[in-house]
Amino acid sequence: MEAFALEFGNLLLRWLHVIAAIAWIGESIYFVMLDNSLHPPRGEQSKKLGVFGEMWSVHGGGFYHNQKYLTNPAELPNDLHWSFWKAYVTWLSGFGLFTVLYLFNPAFYLVNPGSPWAWAAAMSGTQASVLAVAFLVLGYVLYSQMCRRISPNMEDDGLLSAAVGVMMVAVAYLSTQIFPGRAAFLITGAVMATCMSANVFFWIIPGQRRMVDALKAGQAPNPLDGQRGKQRSVHNTYFTLPVVFLMLSNHYSFTYSGPYAWIIMSLFIFAGAVIRQYFVLRHSGKNQLAYPIVGVVMLLAIGWLAAPAATPAADAKGVVSLDQVRTIVAARCVECHSAKPTQAGFASAPAGIMFDAADQIVARAAQIKQVVASRYMPLANMTKMTDAERAAIASWTQQ
Ligand code: HEC
Repeated sequence: MEAFALEFGNLLLRWLHVIAAIAWIGESIYFVMLDNSLHPPRGEQSKKLGVFGEMWSVHGGGFYHNQKYLTNPAELPNDLHWSFWKAYVTWLSGFGLFTVLYLFNPAFYLVNPGSPWAWAAAMSGTQASVLAVAFLVLGYVLYSQMCRRISPNMEDDGLLSAAVGVMMVAVAYLSTQIFPGRAAFLITGAVMATCMSANVFFWIIPGQRRMVDALKAGQAPNPLDGQRGKQRSVHNTYFTLPVVFLMLSNHYSFTYSGPYAWIIMSLFIFAGAVIRQYFVLRHSGKNQLAYPIVGVVMLLAIGWLAAPAATPAADAKGVVSLDQVRTIVAARCVECHSAKPTQAGFASAPAGIMFDAADQIVARAAQIKQVVASRYMPLANMTKMTDAERAAIASWTQQ
């Protein structure tokens, strides 16, 4: 019952999370497009009012006329629309999802018995949970310190971007060494997503509040508040595509279960950022194809790195029979992958995959081969599968 409740909670949180993220990212992409599509105001009236730029658009059967004022519009209505709930709900539902899926089951999902670092392989579930949450908190603290020290007045934003890139490669590397691949990708994505939401919470919104308060008090707002908000907001723009990829990667074990997982993750982060850059420039009328070309080359490199290695030739000892494979699968997999899992914490077959009958095993031979060879399954090697058994599965799938 408890396992079922967790699974149902997982579904509801995921639904909320995806919808909030769509709304947030959609709005963020919309505003970047709007900002980059602005033209100088045409009407005399707008010029007199101090409009900085405007855009006309048609949508849903009506015409829209957006006008942007920099820091001091002539009047500020009280029904100003603010954007922050979408960002907060996305983070809160995401963290809720991380909690029911990972923090409630750290022994399965966060402990990596195959870690090259002995201390990491020996961590308890609780230690792994604390470390995972520490990644999120320290990741933001480090990122924010870099913004404040490297480019406090937006004078070195290029250098700052490079430093943030290096930091993300370091997070990708450390997380894949410490945590199981799937968790490592999620945690790295969550580090970026936490920076994004914290940027909204600690910088963008408070800065905007100070600007609005100043205007209401009849004073000139501090332009640094606007510029700092913009700096963080620009980072958020480049984080979006990589974050969405890292979240989706959880459904594709080939991305995170190989030896090059951290390189694959880093390439995806950079590919997402350069593809985003293409669209940012395109909205301001520049069509720089070099960006998507570099992005596609990175994606091809990922395909090349992630493609499963050729299986070693079946060992000379001869053929492995389906019966032998059934015995191995029954001992090592069926605890979880069954219509009625006996492993605590599983209410239904994980990923809908069951190996109760021989034809179910045959139908998924290729998938079984991949997850067993990459050591992604059995999860955290809970069922202590041996290397000889892995070799037997490889030989059988090759026959
Ligand atoms: C402790 C429980 C557990 C055991 C034991 C286990 N699995 Fe899994 N398996 C899972 C969970 C949970 C998932 C879903 C994880 C995910 O979504 O990536 C999964 C997913 C899979 C997938 C889909 C992977 C993908 O690419 O999405 C395959 C295939 C699979 N398991 C095969 C096996 C085989 C073969 C064995 C035995 C050698 C095995 N599993 C043992 C829990 C287990």
